[in-house]
Amino acid sequence: MEQLLAQIESIQKEIAATVAKTTAEVEAYRIKYLGTKGLVKQIMGEMKNVPVEQKKEFGQILNAFKIVAEEKLEVLLAALGEQDENNATIDTTLPGDPISVGTRHPLNLVRNQMVSIFKRLGFAVAEGPEVEDDWHNFGAMNLPADHPARDMQDTFYVQEATENNSAWLLRTHTSSVQARVMETQKPPIRVICPGRVYRNETISARAHCFFHQVEGLYIDENVSFADLKQTLYFFVQEMFGKEVKVRFRPSYFPFTEPSAEMDISCQICAGKGCNICKHTGWVEILGSGMVHPNVLKNFGIDPEKYTGFAFGMGVERITQLKYQVNDLRLYSQNDLRFLQQFKSV
Ligand code: DAH
Repeated sequence: MEQLLAQIESIQKEIAATVAKTTAEVEAYRIKYLGTKGLVKQIMGEMKNVPVEQKKEFGQILNAFKIVAEEKLEVLLAALGEQDENNATIDTTLPGDPISVGTRHPLNLVRNQMVSIFKRLGFAVAEGPEVEDDWHNFGAMNLPADHPARDMQDTFYVQEATENNSAWLLRTHTSSVQARVMETQKPPIRVICPGRVYRNETISARAHCFFHQVEGLYIDENVSFADLKQTLYFFVQEMFGKEVKVRFRPSYFPFTEPSAEMDISCQICAGKGCNICKHTGWVEILGSGMVHPNVLKNFGIDPEKYTGFAFGMGVERITQLKYQVNDLRLYSQNDLRFLQQFKSV
């Protein structure tokens, strides 16, 4: 018996002195002392040789011994866990991987800039449907029934006119939104209408079957052509910088009288002459004019009391001049190499 007690004591000393720094060392401890063939089991096996009257006392000693061995294992495991945390291979103080966020489409960027410039002049934003009826797209805008712009060549018809129903089409210009606004609002009216328009064109670098316009409409008492010029001059200066030059050329639109197209000095070659301005130094950016009295009358606005100006311009054209995008197809090809260039704009 004495011998067994001495053995237990020496094993307990050994246990107390055990250090284990790695998982393997802790596992070796477990196997040595607590495994199926471990020392604890072996000592327990000695119980059968203990005389009956000492069994109780000895049982308690053995139990305490087992608990000592088990508690040591827990201590070793806990120390290992702490050590893992300290030696963690992830440095939580490092900045994270950047999350790649998308970019705004260049046409949206430019449209937003255009909208914000006109908002500063007091224009509100109005929108209308892309699928329009004949009246809002053409009739109300003073386009006579036989006007060439109504030709099937230019217009995508969704439904032909029947006896009782007007034709339905994809709007060919955002001037249709003018009609929608005048239908529901009384002067003073001051709106811009950004939106997508459609024309039956063969797709090439210079033409597309859909593109974007920003339409403007201002109706009030005493609105003059001088107001039109100054508004548009302010717009291009804000858009392209103070050095930009403008010129107006007389033109024709059914919905305005008089009508004018506005050119700006070429932003690509600074007026020296290049492919974009066809070596003239000028590029056309918009159509405009004083709202035709017939258009006002169509909406019960008295042309003797009210006058107004209107203009319409292409967002693609402004974007081309601002960012030198020379192929219209790039806007709808979804090529990331193109789109990502507008990240920092
Ligand atoms: N609607 C014309 C177009 O699609 C642009 C335009 C010209 C709009 C003159 C206007 C305007 O409001 O007054 O080409």
